[in-house]
Amino acid sequence: MSTSAAGPWWRSAVIYQIYPRSFADGNGDGIGDIEGIRAHLDHLSGLGVDAVWLSPWYPSPMADAGYDVADYRDIDPVFGSLAEAEELIAEAHDRGIRIIVDVVPNHCSDAHPWFQAALAGGPDAPERELFWFRPGGGPGGDRPPTEWVSQFGGGTWTRTTNPDGTPGDWYLHLFAPEQPDLNWDHPRVRAEFEDILRFWLDRGVDGIRIDSAALLMKDPALPEVVDGAPSPFVDLDAVHDVYRDWRRIADGYPGDRALIGEVWLPDRERFANYLRPDELHSAFNFDFLGCAWEAAALRRCVDDTLAAHAPVGAPATWVLSNHDVTRHVTRYGRADTTFSFATKREGVPTDLELGTVRARAAALLTLALPGAVYVYQGEELGLWEVEDIPTELRQDPMWGRSGHGRDGCRVPLPWSADAPPFGFSPDDAVRAPWLPQPAEWKDRTVRAQTGDPYSMLELYRAAIGIRRAEPGLGDGEMRWLAAPDGVLGFARGAGFACLVNLGGAPVPLPPHEARLLASGPLEGDLLPPDTAVWLRTAEDPAAGPTSAG
Ligand code: GLC
Ligand code: CA
Repeated sequence: MSTSAAGPWWRSAVIYQIYPRSFADGNGDGIGDIEGIRAHLDHLSGLGVDAVWLSPWYPSPMADAGYDVADYRDIDPVFGSLAEAEELIAEAHDRGIRIIVDVVPNHCSDAHPWFQAALAGGPDAPERELFWFRPGGGPGGDRPPTEWVSQFGGGTWTRTTNPDGTPGDWYLHLFAPEQPDLNWDHPRVRAEFEDILRFWLDRGVDGIRIDSAALLMKDPALPEVVDGAPSPFVDLDAVHDVYRDWRRIADGYPGDRALIGEVWLPDRERFANYLRPDELHSAFNFDFLGCAWEAAALRRCVDDTLAAHAPVGAPATWVLSNHDVTRHVTRYGRADTTFSFATKREGVPTDLELGTVRARAAALLTLALPGAVYVYQGEELGLWEVEDIPTELRQDPMWGRSGHGRDGCRVPLPWSADAPPFGFSPDDAVRAPWLPQPAEWKDRTVRAQTGDPYSMLELYRAAIGIRRAEPGLGDGEMRWLAAPDGVLGFARGAGFACLVNLGGAPVPLPPHEARLLASGPLEGDLLPPDTAVWLRTAEDPAAGPTSAG
């Protein structure tokens, strides 16, 4: 796991996101756990990923699937124990796989001892200073302090009841009421999280994914949100000091420890500020994740992404799916192939066959672009968004508050067998998987796809294998090649080219020495629509007679 000549691992890594509830269930209670992850490390090695990011595994009442943390220094019993987590880190390292844990600093759980003390101690409890407690407005204080809208829909304030039973102050939660926001102006909050970082870095983790990284600081005047005015809670300048402190901590450890921000910001320059050399190492590229399956839009997104990262010297990242968004097999099969929370519509018709063909091409596109790539568990199996989960089985707090939920991308993985639970749980499991799996996934299990050269899984294995061996891939430069309308073509290193046909008609391949990998069948020397190919080319393919369309 040494740092190669190409620079530190996080500049080039393929990072696999494990959503622990849904990866593999070792003990048969229907919920994924550390035992299940440890039993499936072969899958990760076989895929060839460099690192694993684990969504939260800490003790939690699970009001937001673990993003409501009650204790940042332990493991929830549903997932296992701290000792098992340490074993997992060691076993992954033995296989050359790095581990990234998810730290949630914007808010904790309402079950966290600080918040419990803040409630129990009444209005004068010193712990209230660690959160955002405020009196309500209007006579009787029965109006929330602001009209801010929660990220999950609904208001951002919940009124408390005083220990004597009288109605009390309100507290702020940008997400669910079970996720009170912490007050990052308070030195105790800062010291606590620095200690939490050290706790996990001491245990050998290679990276920290920082949840809701742009939301930590609030304008203490708590103004209303006004169009055109700076937000009172998104991307306040003072947040950068937090990450400068964190960077010093990460830099104090041996090896390359990476800080990776979940930063959703429309302004690319503001986004890149988080990646200045003394701040975070890397951040998720959500513009790409929301981008339409169109040549011009993708090209613009790639160009803008690289242009935004260049001045701060940070590597780009490429993300197609995660545990919060519509799986891209489903997205790419729709008439509108963009994603945004505001326009997310479950049940809008989708052509899964088309979505799958495009997802295959998208895999080759992303794995060839400069920088690091995230693969969300199940993406390598071609899983689609499950949009017909019965309402009574839905778990996501977003469902109900906003009319859409994220359960559909969190359905437990299919590993083997012809029927649910598809090897997700052991044969003698006492409970069914926590969300129901579609019967059609029998063709998408790891076992069904293994050895099938046309499967999504074998495509990912082959592509990641080539990426590892190909010096021009990962971090570095890229060069657009002249290509017909609707076609993206670019060169990497010396003698590697990627072509993606997003147009409606087959196009001729440029001159090449060999075909390394294609996302679908070619028609002789023609690249069909929605298909990508990796080519071995002469050293300078741009010099070849590629048509400019
Ligand atoms: C992030 C997580 C999401 C969670 C939210 C609140 O956006 O990815 O799953 O609900 O933060 O912690
Ligand atoms: Ca379990």
